Amino acid sequence: MSDDGERASTDGVDWDARAAAFDDEPDHGLRDPSVRAAWAGRLRAWLPGRAGDVLDLGCGTGSLSLLAADQGHRVTGIDRSPAMVALAREKLAGRDAVFLVGDAATPPVGERRYDAVLVRHVLWALPGPGRVLRHWRGLLRPGGRLVLVEGVWGTVSPVGIPADRLTALLAPLAGRLRVESLSQEAALWGREVDDERYAVVAVPD
Ligand SMILES: C[S@@+](CC[C@H](N)C(=O)[O-])C[C@H]1O[C@@H](n2cnc3c(N)ncnc32)[C@H](O)[C@@H]1O
Repeated sequence: MSDDGERASTDGVDWDARAAAFDDEPDHGLRDPSVRAAWAGRLRAWLPGRAGDVLDLGCGTGSLSLLAADQGHRVTGIDRSPAMVALAREKLAGRDAVFLVGDAATPPVGERRYDAVLVRHVLWALPGPGRVLRHWRGLLRPGGRLVLVEGVWGTVSPVGIPADRLTALLAPLAGRLRVESLSQEAALWGREVDDERYAVVAVPD
């Protein structure tokens, strides 16, 4: 349970309970050097070329935060699960990174603004994704970008957000929008996948 007495997520999953084993999945822990290298390459392409401030929302154990920090970015990670935040703090100990317990939909960052808001596998589970995206746009500096990695998982009862729905939600906000399919990129997942996986990089006007 989170410290506010609610379940640690809005998606029905108790993320505190899952935190200890979360990194066992290849694309979560990025322990396999080839999987880690695949994500590092993507992040380098998606994040700003110069060192900047990156806000990793629903950061989990901080695996993408660590890659961003290794690429010179200053990272703020937010997660609603205190257990996830504790693991992220441990993973990035000594780096230019801070981790806070909070709601990704309304991150507790005050007046701070960012060069990139990075969100992997979180937006789909947040109520009111259009409203959430508008809030995230407001957290960007001029020229900043949203980097969203999402998908639709499972075949019997699929969950997630399809790329066409996400791009429709972003259309009123985004000046420039790039969608990359990641379904064929087994190196990212540590195995072949046959569901919809993608990233969107959106630079609002
Ligand atoms: C599938 S994991 C993804 C973790 C990380 N983004 C990654 O890609 O490795 C989902 C994460 O989102 C967090 N989460 C779910 N709902 C949240 C919310 N409303 N606010 C903040 N974090 C949330 C969970 O605690 C969990 O750590």
